[in-house]
Amino acid sequence: MKTTNTAAGAWSIRRLHAVDDAQIDALADVLIDCVEGGASVSFMLPLTRDRARAFWRRVADGVARGERALLVAEDAQGICGTVQLILDLPENQPHRADLAKMLVRRRVRRQGLGAALMRAAEAMALECGRTLLVLDAVTGGDAERLYGHLGWQRVGAIPRYALMPDGEPCSTTYFYRDLAPHTGAQKA
Ligand SMILES: CC(C)(COP(=O)(O)OP(=O)(O)OC[C@H]1O[C@@H](n2cnc3c(N)ncnc32)[C@H](O)[C@@H]1OP(=O)(O)O)[C@@H](O)C(=O)NCCC(=O)NCCS
Repeated sequence: MKTTNTAAGAWSIRRLHAVDDAQIDALADVLIDCVEGGASVSFMLPLTRDRARAFWRRVADGVARGERALLVAEDAQGICGTVQLILDLPENQPHRADLAKMLVRRRVRRQGLGAALMRAAEAMALECGRTLLVLDAVTGGDAERLYGHLGWQRVGAIPRYALMPDGEPCSTTYFYRDLAPHTGAQKA
């Protein structure tokens, strides 16, 4: 667990190996807050608590089966951020994970939590034996800018890939991050 103090407060980031009902509720709150704030993260408005809870119950099942690795950030008011790695990939990609559902509550944004979650997710990937990470983000959004600053490699954008929560089509940009130490002797 890593604790960080900022001018605005303090948070700690930890991995959940099991997700209880209270944590599912808190994660549903984070998801709803992000979608109501206009984030394109799989869901359309209005996002009911039932749908948000159902999503996190499926994530909790995946965590229990070892198919997902989940991080949460907590401050004095509870869970304020999260990110996860999807580990359940085809057998010819044992070194890879997809990074998904990077979510920070609006009340704690722009204090470095997104960057801290990303670094923690990269460290967790290495602990899981995964050295190649892939993600996608809305083109031109806050997340795309952050990932570029954090050293993720931009691959390209796909127009009309998804919808914003209000129904507006949006383009998605794919990124990857190679965490493997390169010796120059690796095969392509
Ligand atoms: C994308 C997201 C996770 C970023 O979270 P965050 O906690 O605000 O991220 P950070 O604080 O690390 O960085 C955000 C910006 O604040 C800046 N920042 C960090 N600490 C700061 C501080 N103390 N003072 C001022 N600015 C600061 C960063 O440099 C960064 O700047 P940039 O916009 O120029 O890149 C958040 O906006 C979010 O949850 N969005 C909705 C959900 C979403 O779209 N998720 C992505 C799915 S791919």
